[in-house]
Amino acid sequence: MSRVVVTIDGPAGSGKSTLAPELASRMGWSHLDSGALYRVLAWLASRRGLDLTTTGTSIIHLADEVGIDLQRTATSQKFLVGGEDVTEGIRAPEVSHAASHVAKLPEIRDWVVRRLRGLADQSPDGVVADGRDMGTVVFPDAILKIFLEASADERARRRQKELAERGYEQTLDTVRMELLSRDDVDRNRAHSPMVPAKDAIHIDTTDCSVAEVTARVEKLIRRAVDDNNTQTNENAS
Ligand code: DC
Repeated sequence: MSRVVVTIDGPAGSGKSTLAPELASRMGWSHLDSGALYRVLAWLASRRGLDLTTTGTSIIHLADEVGIDLQRTATSQKFLVGGEDVTEGIRAPEVSHAASHVAKLPEIRDWVVRRLRGLADQSPDGVVADGRDMGTVVFPDAILKIFLEASADERARRRQKELAERGYEQTLDTVRMELLSRDDVDRNRAHSPMVPAKDAIHIDTTDCSVAEVTARVEKLIRRAVDDNNTQTNENAS
């Protein structure tokens, strides 16, 4: 079977990062966290004191020189920059902000897109890819595209909890403002802005439990896989 892709896009706190790895695991597929790659580049650029708003070429040169590796196991993934494990470090609030800015640069986006497609091609069965432009730009041929949404208050609550679990204590107001400012940058940039694909299914997760959303999307994925198999068999006969 050639690989199939399911995309899950949406703003921060909409539920992507909980849903995508869980669904990938239920399907026995790989999970591609595109935001983590923008975070890794932002982390590296900040660490080396590069200007985040000018050319992305110098950031990419540096990344290629230092080496960015992704180590995947069935249950986790680690990001290494020049051998240093940055998996936790890239989740810091200042890296979220920086990632949103480096993600505006076309050279950075090209690099990430190439990397994501390469990783998808190494995944023999299927991939669940989450981000902002997975369904519109990176995997337009996905068999199922989901766009998650949730109210700003609920997203801020979730994000505050997630940050606290990582040891970052922030007020709800601060988290809410950071989310809204990041939404604004991500939605209004010139290259691959965060917009739902025309054929995406919209799911508002504000009042839903994780279990409910996961069960609903899993059902959609299984149906899309069946339809895709039927289509493939019809084309072959
Ligand atoms: O999903 P995340 O919060 O880890 O993403 C961090 C930032 O990376 C986000 O604010 C914008 C950028 N990003 C992007 O531009 N395109 C993607 N597909 C994923 C993330």
